[in-house]
Amino acid sequence: MLTKFARYFNLTNLSRISVRTLPCSSSNLNSKADYTTNVQKNVLITGGLGQLGLDFANFLRGRYGRDNILLTDIKQPTEEALKSGRFEHLDVLDARRFEALVVENRIDLVIHFSAILSALGESNVQKAIDINIHSVHSVLEICRKHKVQLYCPSSIAAFGSTAPRNPTPDFTVQRPRTIYGVSKVHMELMGEYYAEKYGLDFRSLRYPGIISSDSMPGGGTTDYAVHIFYEIAARNKYSCFLREDSTLPMMFLPDCVRGTVKFLETPREKLKQYTYNLTAVSFNPKQLVDAMRPHFPQMEVTYEPDPVKQTIADTWPQVFDDSNARRDWGWNHKFGLEDMVQVMVDKVKSMK
Ligand SMILES: NC(=O)c1ccc[n+]([C@@H]2O[C@H](COP(=O)([O-])OP(=O)(O)OC[C@H]3O[C@@H](n4cnc5c(N)ncnc54)[C@H](O)[C@@H]3O)[C@@H](O)[C@H]2O)c1
Repeated sequence: MLTKFARYFNLTNLSRISVRTLPCSSSNLNSKADYTTNVQKNVLITGGLGQLGLDFANFLRGRYGRDNILLTDIKQPTEEALKSGRFEHLDVLDARRFEALVVENRIDLVIHFSAILSALGESNVQKAIDINIHSVHSVLEICRKHKVQLYCPSSIAAFGSTAPRNPTPDFTVQRPRTIYGVSKVHMELMGEYYAEKYGLDFRSLRYPGIISSDSMPGGGTTDYAVHIFYEIAARNKYSCFLREDSTLPMMFLPDCVRGTVKFLETPREKLKQYTYNLTAVSFNPKQLVDAMRPHFPQMEVTYEPDPVKQTIADTWPQVFDDSNARRDWGWNHKFGLEDMVQVMVDKVKSMK
């Protein structure tokens, strides 16, 4: 299996060009030394103890050097996070400390992951405004002042029910009705404004729901697609908080890491947009259950839609059009539904 992953993570044909100036108007599965490059880039990751952060840190440590990647979060680090490399406590609302860490560590790239996700945001709107909107203002200013590349992921949540849902292109009406979605549109527009106005190297990818085998999701509407594996492995039963026909775009975390790093290493002059849609496959809970059933023939799944999460899901893209990313910088996903299911099943069965 590692050989397969090694192939998926091979980025050696990517350009090594530094990506600081823009003429643009317009897990452990992957921490192998094979991916080390001669690029010495100092990277600070905020919100690094969430679903995505540690996999990104491990991959980047294999690529740019272990000591060059600084993982930060407001939470207590786990043993695993501490063992993996450098960690500092950072509340992203503390702009002075944020700036000090960037300066002291001679940071070249900030990956701004701190966020309150879709479902959680609806039950804590003020916190979502603080973290998803106010911290973006700070990080934009810090990166502008110190000429640091800035990556902030966006989301399918940046679209609402008035956008075409199948497929949803990069450029269409963006009128989300969640605070999470509103904050992601705000972030995209602020980042693009700073890029145009100040030449900041701002980049963003709109992620679909991310499925991960080593970390748990943090309060999103697509979380069922991870929870179901753990619940079925433990109890053979799962109550799904979305209807069985709720089709949403999804992507496996190793693809997300590999694609994002490829995007960040693409010379800016090759990019035609600051923000791109990114996806792998679309499926609904029933299709996921059908793909899991050969591995768990006795599994029992019921559908008890949560009113908040179901309402959100009903307004989101069903099929994401990421053809611009595929054309402009060579994005391609490796994991389809069957591949993801196989890795997830192997993982949860190995835990028994
Ligand atoms: N996971 C997904 O399916 C998905 C999909 C689309 C976009 N994204 C985006 O990717 C990024 C990372 O997502 P994730 O799934 O890892 O999120 P997560 O919810 O799992 O983790 C977010 C992290 O932010 C941290 N955080 C919260 N408040 C903070 C503060 N004041 N200071 C510093 N850190 C703080 C939390 O402690 C947590 O570790 C987010 O911007 C998210 O919007 C994720």
